[in-house]
Amino acid sequence: REKKRKQGVNLLELAARFFRERMKMAEGQAARGYLERRGLSPQVVEEYGIGFAPNDWEALKRHLGEQGISEAVQVEYGLLIHREDSGRTYDRFRDRVMFPIRDVKGNTIAFGGRVLGDAKPKYLNSPETPVFHKGRELYGLYEARQAHRQLERVLIVEGYMDVVALAQFGIRNAVATLGTSTSEDHLTRLFRMVDEVVFCFDGDRAGRQAATRALETVLPLMIDGRQARFLFLPEGEDPDTLVRSEGTEAFQDRVTCASPLSEFLFDQAAAGRDLARIEERERYASQVLKALARLPEGVLKSLLLSELAKRTGVEQARFESLLAVPDPVAA
Ligand code: CTP
Ligand code: MN
Ligand code: MN
Ligand code: MN
Ligand code: MN
Repeated sequence: REKKRKQGVNLLELAARFFRERMKMAEGQAARGYLERRGLSPQVVEEYGIGFAPNDWEALKRHLGEQGISEAVQVEYGLLIHREDSGRTYDRFRDRVMFPIRDVKGNTIAFGGRVLGDAKPKYLNSPETPVFHKGRELYGLYEARQAHRQLERVLIVEGYMDVVALAQFGIRNAVATLGTSTSEDHLTRLFRMVDEVVFCFDGDRAGRQAATRALETVLPLMIDGRQARFLFLPEGEDPDTLVRSEGTEAFQDRVTCASPLSEFLFDQAAAGRDLARIEERERYASQVLKALARLPEGVLKSLLLSELAKRTGVEQARFESLLAVPDPVAA
């Protein structure tokens, strides 16, 4: 299996090199122009190994074929698509800016490819392969670890461009999930390396929903003084656009001021409710309790319970007994 992994990683590295070289050639001109318009410096393009997949159905297939790599293996690692009906194979990534996705050791294990214009899909990712499991990997984690002797916190953002733009502006601790929501697996891995995660999703409805889901996912992992905070961006902004318009320092200030989990939890439960009304206060308390039921036993849970008691005027012991019943508010 180790040998197999090596074979896959070698193949993907060859592909990454191919994409980087093509970016520098005449056919990469549009891609270079695109990255320039997006404001990416040549240094950051180099650091993240960004390349270009030519507008050709078989460019990579030919290149890898010349190196003696079978089509079957190229299909297995997601570089070639095999059509069952016609039996034909062709390059998965065509006419796209290519972001290599690396594992923590720096091996390329997959790609994300962005169209140069407005075509759909905007991003195309490698499929699941023997070396790539989407719900596990985080784009930019290798680079973030390279940039720091000791990473203290990680910013979790949505996109490739967010990671790369932040890095260009000196904020080198951002990682992105790959078009999936943040999973428990992602967070468990990150909490092995850092004590603090800051969720920083786009300032749009999808981003806010992602934050709500991230809260649910992170709750069971809140042990041993781990911190989770939530940074909400102005409507229509993402980390890429914001750091470019506001600059590094202003963005860092936003990170510093990001809401702690406790604040987001209460704010979210209170949102849109008139807490002067008893019924709405009841729903507020139920929502907070439902979250607390997911928290491990510990000081944080006790503190939040006492805060909930304070905010609702209900005795803490009442909430404790509600929580002691399995799944108290699910019904
Ligand atoms: N994504 C994806 N497939 C899509 C759209 C999005 O996998 N069709 C993932 C990508 O990882 C993308 C992230 O979701 O980076 C966030 O999506 P979005 O905010 O729409 O894109 P941006 O990262 O902001 O991309 P850009 O700035 O290049 O438009
Ligand atoms: Mn597997
Ligand atoms: Mn978005
Ligand atoms: Mn963007
Ligand atoms: Mn975005």
